[in-house]
Order: sequence, then structure tokens, then C-alpha cells
Amino acid sequence: MVWLAIIGLLTLCHSGIAHRTKFPDGFTFGVATAAHQIEGAWNISGKSENVWDRLTHSRPELIADGTNGDVATDSYHRYQEDVDALAYLGVDFYRLSLSWSRILPSGRNNYINPDGIRYYNALLDALAEKNIEPLVTLFHWDLPQSLQDLGGWANPKMIDFFRDYADFCFREFGDKIKSWITINEPYEICEDGYGDEKKAPAIDSHGVGNYLCSDTLLKAHAEVFHLYNETYREKQNGTIMISINSIWYEPSDPENTEQVTLAETANQFKFGWFAHPIFTEQGGYPAVMVENIARESMQEGLTKPRLQQFDDYWIQRIKGTSDFLGINHYTTFLVTGPGVDPTAKSPSWLKDTGAVTTMEVGEDSASEWLRVVPAGFGNLLRWCKSSYNDPPIYITENGFSDRGTLEDYGRIKYLNDYLTEILNVIYEDNVRVLGYALWTLVDNFEWRAGFSERFGVYYVDITQPDRPRTPKLSAEYYRALVATRELPQDERFFDQARL
Ligand SMILES: *[C@@H]1O[C@H](CO)[C@@H](O)[C@H](O)[C@H]1NC(C)=O
Ligand SMILES: *[C@@H]1O[C@H](CO)[C@@H](O)[C@H](O)[C@H]1NC(C)=O
Ligand SMILES: *[C@@H]1O[C@H](CO)[C@@H](O)[C@H](O)[C@H]1NC(C)=O
Repeated sequence: MVWLAIIGLLTLCHSGIAHRTKFPDGFTFGVATAAHQIEGAWNISGKSENVWDRLTHSRPELIADGTNGDVATDSYHRYQEDVDALAYLGVDFYRLSLSWSRILPSGRNNYINPDGIRYYNALLDALAEKNIEPLVTLFHWDLPQSLQDLGGWANPKMIDFFRDYADFCFREFGDKIKSWITINEPYEICEDGYGDEKKAPAIDSHGVGNYLCSDTLLKAHAEVFHLYNETYREKQNGTIMISINSIWYEPSDPENTEQVTLAETANQFKFGWFAHPIFTEQGGYPAVMVENIARESMQEGLTKPRLQQFDDYWIQRIKGTSDFLGINHYTTFLVTGPGVDPTAKSPSWLKDTGAVTTMEVGEDSASEWLRVVPAGFGNLLRWCKSSYNDPPIYITENGFSDRGTLEDYGRIKYLNDYLTEILNVIYEDNVRVLGYALWTLVDNFEWRAGFSERFGVYYVDITQPDRPRTPKLSAEYYRALVATRELPQDERFFDQARL
């Protein structure tokens, strides 16, 4: 033992940096999913239509392989198989989302669907039986279509609808759920859903609808936080946060000061759009966003900017409304210079940034937008520490897509390299990362990519009625990681030919 320790010490000294592989005590591991991507049962047991049902049925040509979430992985009927898979992985927590249209089919709280309540209680009880903590997202993109018909997140009335829905969920499930997420990925909801056609409801109101959405969404998030904080927290003793996705921007030439400035602008537009109002001392939208959009709007001949700063009431009301910073992270893009990005519509969020960007960096995945750039993750986390006053952080999603192979060395390498970045920022920069949720448990309905991009650590054969789940090599890797709290070194996890 002594000899081993000495050899270990010599190795550390030799490499200069202690290459840590062990996670600190108390660090938690989980897996994340979203209701619409796995549940199926889209039109039974009282569930109503949501915006993804509508989009996939009315415009199937927008989905890469023409599939939809009608059955998905049938988790509505097969949730016990999911829970057994989670137990096999040994995770501390399971991040899942509630389907609003399954619980409140009209979108409002005038009618409660008993089958929806039964389903989530059964799932929560099955998790409790295996000692797996639920981390529950109230809204993961599947808005009831009836509320979209009223304008969805572009309608300020959504603040009340969302609060009423959350109120019901806290009351009904709050004794079983200690950790809540209000909203998953506000940028993707607003920009991709209201400023583009990349996500449902595919309202391509670029440069306008996206900002109406963010005004409403941030207020709705804050109201739900305050409701929990004031009415439920003391009784239920839980926590509540928001999960923000980041594509991290770096200058393509780090020596180019103009690019460095523009990358910071792009990060303020992307992550700061939703993080700055909640996590800074100052509050409100980032100044650079307000300024750029005011300037662009004037040039377009508008008399009012397309995005305006919140008034002081709302700046104060939104500030500080998240117990943790929830980060979903997958990839990094590069900023190559100033100007109008060739892919930007006019007006649009991208044009408003004033930056030209490229995703030509790192190895690719099955997703066009996902390149493997582990170092960008470390840079994002250090930036969050310095920009947001050293918040406690949960990584609420991180993962890799391929076409569905069982020997998924690409996924394992991705996870291993991104988890190494987390260890580095914890030990070397004292970034307070407290837990990690891998995206995702089972190959699922990956939104507009359908089933053509596979993110699961379990393979799912969607051609079979019983949707059989088969663990991939990455499931064994994650299981070993969770069991030891240490990055697995076993060479069977690493493709020797590729190293
Ligand atoms: C539910 O949707 C399926 C298609 O996924 C369809 O075949 C079936 O008829 C629908 N059932 C009802 C009750 O509308
Ligand atoms: C509240 O939860 C924390 C852990 O999340 C626990 O340490 C504490 O004892 C709980 N307090 C009450 C009053 O249940
Ligand atoms: C949450 O409630 C506590 C106790 O009432 C209060 O001190 C705190 O300011 C509230 N948090 C926010 C962000 O309003």
C-alpha cells in the first residue's frame, strides 16, 4: 500500500497537475428524460393534444424520419422498465418531466385528469421503492395545444396559466418531490419555437415572437418560484431552479480581441438572455442585448425596440429566483467575426447578436449541432462562476448522439471527457458543481430528429410493439462510474483503435 501511494505521488508530481478521477463526497449522479420524448399514450387516458402532437401530425415533413411521439418508448405503460434500468445504473436521482396536457387536459385547472395523477403517482412510488430521488421539470416543451391556440408563451396570460398548473403540481405531488425545475431550456422554447421552426410550435416570428416569449416566460418562472418559496417550501422542504441550455461561444482566434468581445456578446445573448435576469446582482436582460436590439430596431424603422428592458418591479421580482443554476450543455460554437451571419433572417436573434458564427470545431456526432468540444464545457463553467457570483450548479443535461450502436465508444469518450472537465473545474477552479444528469436513459423521440439521432444509454427497438430496451456499453460505463464515484479506467470501455 505504501509503495503504491508513493508511486501514485510520483506520478502526480511528474504530470504537474493532479489528474483527479474521483468525484467529491456528496456529488450526485442521475439520468434525465422528458415526458413527450418517452411516454407515448398521446391520445389515451384523458391526455389532450400538445404542441408537439400538433406539429408532428400536421407537418410530419418537418421530422427527419417522419416519426412522432404517439407511442415513443411507451413509458406510460413501461415506466417500471425505466425504473428498473435506473436501478441497474444505480443513480441517485431521476430527472423526469410532467406532461401538462396529461394532468390538466384543458391547460387550465378547471378539470383534473385522474389517470394522469395515477400515472405520476405510480412512477414516483416506483422510484421511491428503489431509493431514487425524483428531480421533476414542470415544463419540458409540451405545451397544451389549447394554450398555444391563445398564443402560447407570446401571451402574457401564460403567467397565470403556468402558475395555476404549478400550484396544482406542488399541492398534488409535493410530498414526494423535493427538487423541482420550473422550465427546461428557455432559449430553445423562445428562439427555436417562436423565432424559428426548429421546435414546436414552429411560429417563425423571428426577432419578434422570440422576445415576446422571453418576457412572459421569465415572469412565469419567477411567479412559480415565489409561489413555491412562499407557500410550499416550508412544508415540503424542497428546492426549485431553472435549467438553461448553453451552446458556448469561443473566439475562433483567441488573440483577436474583436472576436473575444463578440464571443462574450454571443454568450450574453445565448445564456445571459435567461441567466442574467435571474442570477446577477443587477438583474434584467444583459445590457448588450438591450443595446443591440434597440439599435437594430431603429434601423428597421420601428418606434419601439423589439426587446425592452423589464421595468424595475419585474427586474426585482425575477432576480434571485433559482436555488441553483441548472445547466444543460452539449457543445461549443466559434465566433469568426462581426457582421450578419449568412444563416441569419432579418430581423432575428442571430442578426441582433452582430456575430458571425460557425460550428466547425471538434469531432462530430449524429446531430448537426453537436460537436465534441470538452474544453468549451470547462470554459463555460468557469465563466458561470465569475459571471453569476459563484452559484451552486447542477448539470441537468449532458450527452452525445449516434445512430444507435450498442458498442457506443463515441458516447463513452464524450462522457468521460466532459466529466473530466467537471472534475477539473471543481478541483482547480472551485466551481461549485454539485451533481450531474446524463442525457438520456433510453433512445427517445428526439424532437425534429425523430428517432434518427440516438442519445440513450439504452437502445430501444422502436419497430417492436413492446419497445425492448437493451443496455449499451455506455450503460455499463455509467453504472461503474456511479458505483465507484470515479471515472472508470477499465480498458473495455475505451476503443483501443481510436485512442
Ligand atoms: C389515437 O392515435 C392513434 C394514432 O397514434 C390512432 O390510430 C387512434 O385511432 C387514436 N385513438 C383515439 C381514441 O383517437
Ligand atoms: C430538509 O431537507 C434537508 C435535506 O434536503 C434535510 O437535511 C433537513 O433535515 C430537512 N428538514 C426538514 C424540516 O425536514
Ligand atoms: C424566499 O423566501 C424567503 C423566506 O420568506 C425570503 O427570505 C427570500 O427572500 C425569498 N426568496 C426570494 C428570491 O424572493
